[in-house]
Amino acid sequence: MSTVVLVPAAGRGERLGHGVPKALVPVRGVALLVHAVRGLLSAGRVRHVVVAAPPAEVSATSALLTAHGLVAEVVPGGADRTASVRLAFEHALRVHPDVRTVLVHDAARAFTPPSVVNAVVAAVESGSPAVIPVLPVADTVKRVDAHDVVQDTPDRAALRVVQTPQGFDVATLRRAYAEAGDSATDDAGLVEKIGVPVLTIPGHPRAMKVTTPFDLAIAEAVLAEGAP
Ligand code: C5P
Repeated sequence: MSTVVLVPAAGRGERLGHGVPKALVPVRGVALLVHAVRGLLSAGRVRHVVVAAPPAEVSATSALLTAHGLVAEVVPGGADRTASVRLAFEHALRVHPDVRTVLVHDAARAFTPPSVVNAVVAAVESGSPAVIPVLPVADTVKRVDAHDVVQDTPDRAALRVVQTPQGFDVATLRRAYAEAGDSATDDAGLVEKIGVPVLTIPGHPRAMKVTTPFDLAIAEAVLAEGAP
């Protein structure tokens, strides 16, 4: 069975303040995207990687991955994350018509352990149409109104923080992108809209998303320590 990972990496990453697309920001001298693609391929269960890069950076991104000995297909991304995933998915369906399982993985979650990647693939291959890695919520969460006044306090025992890679059987993701319409902050959100159940499995702290300079400092420290 063929597994393809779509890697949306076309964000500008302004919150990191590096002046380059987030996926190209270095951690211990190597671009986040290189760490991410290396991790995906080292998991062993991924056949192809399709990266959505900023349109002006497609050839540079391709050259960067090749220079690190990584085989990936690079396509131009879109205006938001959903558009970038859609473009990468269309490419994957065209070039790899035998694909059975599709993973979507944020380049910004560059240090996700291979065990999480493989657990997501295994759960899809065992028959779950949609699978996402999650962590429990450590903080109390409040819902607020437009004036920053608290409305209510959801029971945190029922809440989860969502990570990637998110895994789907190809037919489910194809239908979600065809029917769900709007953008979503994650791909499982589109699958939920078409009424397909989404299974959660344990995520990992190392699958954190690098968004701010603080996250970058944590990523540098995590990498210096090696795998836990
Ligand atoms: O902005 P945020 O951190 O939520 O972005 C999540 C992922 O989506 C990042 O890996 C980013 O590069 C990607 N993205 C994209 N195309 C966009 C915007 C974001 O591929 N137009």
